[in-house]
Amino acid sequence: MSETALSVTATAPAKINLALYVGSPDISGFHPLLSAFQAINLFDSITVHPAAQMNITCRAPFNTSSVPLDETNIVWKAHALISAHSASGGPVRIDIDKTIPVAGGMAGGSADGAASLIALNELWQAGCPVETLFELARQLGSDVPFSLVGGAAIGRGRGDVLQPFATDRPLHVVVVTSGIQLSTPLVYATLDAMRGEQKVAVPDALPDEFLTAWRLADAHALAPLLHNDLEPVALSLEPSLGAVMEAVSAAGALRALVSGSGPTVVGLAESEAHAVAVAQALTTQGFGVTVTQSTGRGSQLQTP
Ligand code: C5P
Repeated sequence: MSETALSVTATAPAKINLALYVGSPDISGFHPLLSAFQAINLFDSITVHPAAQMNITCRAPFNTSSVPLDETNIVWKAHALISAHSASGGPVRIDIDKTIPVAGGMAGGSADGAASLIALNELWQAGCPVETLFELARQLGSDVPFSLVGGAAIGRGRGDVLQPFATDRPLHVVVVTSGIQLSTPLVYATLDAMRGEQKVAVPDALPDEFLTAWRLADAHALAPLLHNDLEPVALSLEPSLGAVMEAVSAAGALRALVSGSGPTVVGLAESEAHAVAVAQALTTQGFGVTVTQSTGRGSQLQTP
């Protein structure tokens, strides 16, 4: 960016969890996780402009009435955090252009937070190193560090301890949104209620056969190994998701899986052509479907 640039845009990808194991909450109330994070080719875009006072706008091809436009929005919190690390700074207008479903279990809010950090760092020429941005991302939320780095990674801790994972080829998926929104804290609290007194530890590692199938993007081998501890919780809170999952399977997907805390449902396909065929079958039934694939990208500045 030149010193005279008036705005900066950054993008950040959505994620799906190809595996998500959730342990019983620790003393802080957070749940230890073991997660196979996979970024997909669906991006939110954040543009920051210096302004007389803070304000946020949000545009999307779907209803965003639940997205707050005040200091409770994660992008406003990102501004507050990085302000403390920058000699310049000041109020900005933050324009959020969403393609990632809201409260869909795909880390859309986290993507916006991560992209805001990158964009403000550039706008102010703040010079925060990657390590600092990563630490600020952790403070913003459990999924924000992954939104920053993207690609594929194994997540531990709250999901914020990341080990990059190399994959050979893209995986093809369909993403089915339903307009329903599920609150992440409610999903975790319901999991605890469903488990009662039972104490659950996360496995030490993802199964070898899962890792091999993920690395090779072998969708047939991967399909039966996909796992999400939050899926039965999302289904209990939103029973209509059962019909969505059945429809995704009936449309020919190798496997239907709730993404993260839901309610977005992901269908795994063997190829792009297969994903398109699955999507067409679902679209004729009135479902909102996006054909996409995994990506190695993370948050990045958009070059003009
Ligand atoms: O970290 P983040 O703000 O994204 O988390 C939202 C909520 O999800 C937390 O307040 C907590 O209720 C729940 N959560 C959890 N364990 C995690 C991640 C999130 O209990 N590992």
